Amino acid sequence: MNKIILTEDGSKTLFNETIGEHYHSTRGALQESKHVFLQAGLLHTSTLFPQQEISILEVGFGTGLNFLLSMDYALEHRVPVRYTGIEAFPITEAELQATDYQQYVAPAVWKAYSDHYSACIDNRVELMPGLSLEIVQRPLAEVSPVNNHHLVYYDAFSLQYQPEMWSNDIIEHTTKFLRPGGVFVTYAITGNLKRALTGFGFKVEKLVGAPGKRQMLRATKL
Ligand SMILES: C[S@@+](CC[C@H](N)C(=O)[O-])C[C@H]1O[C@@H](n2cnc3c(N)ncnc32)[C@H](O)[C@@H]1O
Repeated sequence: MNKIILTEDGSKTLFNETIGEHYHSTRGALQESKHVFLQAGLLHTSTLFPQQEISILEVGFGTGLNFLLSMDYALEHRVPVRYTGIEAFPITEAELQATDYQQYVAPAVWKAYSDHYSACIDNRVELMPGLSLEIVQRPLAEVSPVNNHHLVYYDAFSLQYQPEMWSNDIIEHTTKFLRPGGVFVTYAITGNLKRALTGFGFKVEKLVGAPGKRQMLRATKL
């Protein structure tokens, strides 16, 4: 069961009552999503792979806020994007409507996403020319990696609430989805995560975190 919650920047998020954790930072869902995934993730990665379709993999697709902001950016800046979300427990259509996220993106982006949300589950849909989405409804550990992604948005529940999503095994599994030069971003940073990613052949950067978090992590596959 998910409850809708207002965060400090005025945007909404969900609270998962089973896990006991929010889908986004309570300091601001929108500002976290923009800071960590859009700015440190897509804007950076699209400069590393100019003139190319960017394949994005999101772990923990949830409401799709990261997807919406990415699609909005991609549309405005004419960046083709192939987006795959891995989500073990997709939210309902009613929960999606309750987020009110339509106000943060172009009307055409919201319409394409909200009209086709359910159709994207376990099925790739071209929502707009050059912008496609599939939400894979399976736990991350059960999805076989294909190393063709340019960018991974790692947006699992936090270490405290879902430690298995931060184990070295699952992080190593996730890194196998990236091509050489590909980028991994997440809102959290721990010594263990830095060491693990370095050991798996990544260059790790500590960046300023979204409000409420001192630092975030970005890592590039060497
Ligand atoms: C922090 S929330 C994601 C927030 C999301 N990115 C958004 O913008 O709404 C974590 C998500 O991971 C999902 N999840 C939990 N365990 C998972 C697993 N083993 N594999 C894939 N997804 C999982 C949850 O259902 C939840 O949607």
